Amino acid sequence: MRFHINGDIREADVDIRTSLLDLLREHLALPGTKKGCNQGACGACTVLVDGNRINSCLALAVQYEEREITTIEGIGTVDQLDALQAMFVEHDGFQCGYCTPGQICSAIAMAAEAQRGLPSFVTPDLAAQAIRLDHDELRERMSGNLCRCGAYNGIIDAIRATFVEEVA
Ligand code: FES
Ligand code: FES
Repeated sequence: MRFHINGDIREADVDIRTSLLDLLREHLALPGTKKGCNQGACGACTVLVDGNRINSCLALAVQYEEREITTIEGIGTVDQLDALQAMFVEHDGFQCGYCTPGQICSAIAMAAEAQRGLPSFVTPDLAAQAIRLDHDELRERMSGNLCRCGAYNGIIDAIRATFVEEVA
């Protein structure tokens, strides 16, 4: 099978039952994407496909041939952090860091969803062209990404600082 991942073409000869998460971690040496629950409940395995967020543990790799897949390894590097990654550091958006790659991928797609006017469960005006990412919107839209360390306040501050406004 042939995949487009983080701007590279990657080939892998895997069983068609392989999940996208296992493909990344076990076959392509991309361990940044984490396996938490492996059943769609925690968001640790979130990656971007054509800019949209998905739980890679619930996805069969074979379905994503020829799509643009982005993992945390394609977002920034240790020497050159992406803006959101830098804000996670500045605002203490992590403790153990296990959920962080999923949080970051999810937040990037979440901000794009809001910019496209896609409402969430708590959006007051469903016809609004632009959606203001206030505290409730951010909490609701990021609710699929769990953090067992409870670093939620820092995570929300980092996302606000990147996509909404400066946070003191
Ligand atoms: S590992 Fe995929 S949602 Fe938990
Ligand atoms: S930082 Fe440890 S699980 Fe979120």
